[in-house]
Amino acid sequence: MRTYLVTGGAGFIGSNYIHYMFEKYGDEIRIINVDALTYAGNLENLKGVDERDNYTFVKADICDKDAISRIFAENDIDRVVHFAAESHVDRSIKNPEVFVKTNVLGTAVMLNCARAAWEKEDGTYPEDKKFLHVSTDEVYGSLPEGNGYFYETTPYSPHSPYSSSKAGSDMLVRAYMDTYHFPANITNCSNNYGPYQFPEKLIPLMINNALNGKKLPVYGDGKNVRDWLYVRDHAKAIDMVQEQGKLFETYNVGGHNEKQNIEIVQIIIDTLLEILPDSDPRKANVSRDLITYVEDRKGHDRRYAIAPDKIKAAVGWQPDTMFKEGIRLTIQWYLEHEDWMKNVTSGDYQKYYETMYNV
Ligand code: NAD
Ligand code: DAU
Repeated sequence: MRTYLVTGGAGFIGSNYIHYMFEKYGDEIRIINVDALTYAGNLENLKGVDERDNYTFVKADICDKDAISRIFAENDIDRVVHFAAESHVDRSIKNPEVFVKTNVLGTAVMLNCARAAWEKEDGTYPEDKKFLHVSTDEVYGSLPEGNGYFYETTPYSPHSPYSSSKAGSDMLVRAYMDTYHFPANITNCSNNYGPYQFPEKLIPLMINNALNGKKLPVYGDGKNVRDWLYVRDHAKAIDMVQEQGKLFETYNVGGHNEKQNIEIVQIIIDTLLEILPDSDPRKANVSRDLITYVEDRKGHDRRYAIAPDKIKAAVGWQPDTMFKEGIRLTIQWYLEHEDWMKNVTSGDYQKYYETMYNV
C-alpha cells in the first residue's frame, strides 16, 4: 500500500485533494496529513475522512524538523505532496515574515527530511519515492492586459511577499533536484475556487458578504484578471503529474478561464439571485448595489493566465469542470454550509476583516 505524506491537508486545496484521493483510490492508499492548524487549517474540512483506518492526522509545524523527521522515521513514506504554506497575498503585505518562515524554511525542512529518509548510500533514490511541491502561477509575476501566457519557461518575477516566498521555495526544490538528484516535481497552478476555501479569498468572501448584505470590496478598478480553476481539477492534476509526469519537471496547471474580478463579483450576485428561492430571507440582501470600489492592493498584479499545454501533452490532463458549472457548485456548497462559514468567520477572522477593510 502506497503511503502519502500530505502537508497542509486541513487547508482549502489540501483537504479537497485528500477527499479526491480517497474517492479515487479508496483503501489502496494511506494518507498521513501533517498540518499546524493555523487560522487557515480546519479539521471540519475532513469530516468523514477522519473515520477511515487508512487516514492519520498529525498536528505539527513543517518548520519543526524533529517532528517531521519523526514522521519519516516511523512511516515508510512513498509520496510527499507539499501544500502547507501561508497562502494569502494581503496578509503577506501586512506581515511578510511568517511567509518566509513557513514557505521557505518549512519547504527546506520538508526537503531535508525527505532526502535524509530516502537517499541511498550511493546517492540514488528508490524508484517509488516522489516529492511534489505545490506552487503558484504568481511566481511568474504579472502579464499585460489581453496579451501572453505563463509558460514553464517564463522567468520568475514575483512581486508580493507571498509570491516571493513561493518563488524561494520553488528554487529550493529545483536546487535539490539539481544538486542531489532529488526525485521531485513542481506544479504551478492558477487561482483555485470551490468548497472549503477560507473567506478571505475573493470568491467565498463575496458570496459570504452578499448573503449578509455587506459591501463587496473590489480592489482598484476591478479589471485585474485571474485565471480560475475548480479545485478538484487541481487535485486531479497533482495526482496525474505525480503518477504519470516526468520526474524533475515543472508543470503549469490552468484551465484557460480568465475573468476580470468585477465579472466574478457580478456572476456571483446573478447566480445567487437565480439559485436562492424567494422564501430564503438571505435573498433580499443580495444586490449589485453592494459593489464598492476600495483602495487597490499594493503591488497588485494585473493579469495571470496559464498556458497548460505541457501538462496536457505530457499526462493528458484537462479540466472536467467548466467555470459556469463550477461556480454554481461552489455557491450551492456555501449556501448549504452556513455553519461551516459561521465557524470560520467568528473570532480571529472577524478581527482580521475589520482591520483589513477598515470597518
Ligand atoms: P490554505 O491557506 O487554505 O491552507 C494552508 C494550510 O497549510 C492550512 O491548513 C494551514 O494550517 C497549513 N499550514 C500553514 N502553515 C503551516 C506550517 N508552518 N506547518 C504546517 N501546516 C501549515 O492554502 P491553499 O489555498 O489550500 O493553498 C495550498 C497550497 O497551494 C499553497 O502552497 C499555495 O501556495 C498553493 N496554491 C494555492 C492556490 C490557490 O488559489 N489557493 C493556487 C495555486 C497554488
Ligand atoms: O494565482 C494563484 C494564487 O491565487 C494563489 O497562489 C494564492 O494562494 C491565492 O490566494 C490566489 O491569490 P490572489 O491574490 O489572486 O487571490 P485573492 O482571492 O486574494 O484575490 C483574487 C483577486 O481579487 C485579486 O486580483 C485581488 C482581488 N480582490 C481580492 C479580495 C480578497 C478584491 O478585489 N477584493 C477582495 O476583497
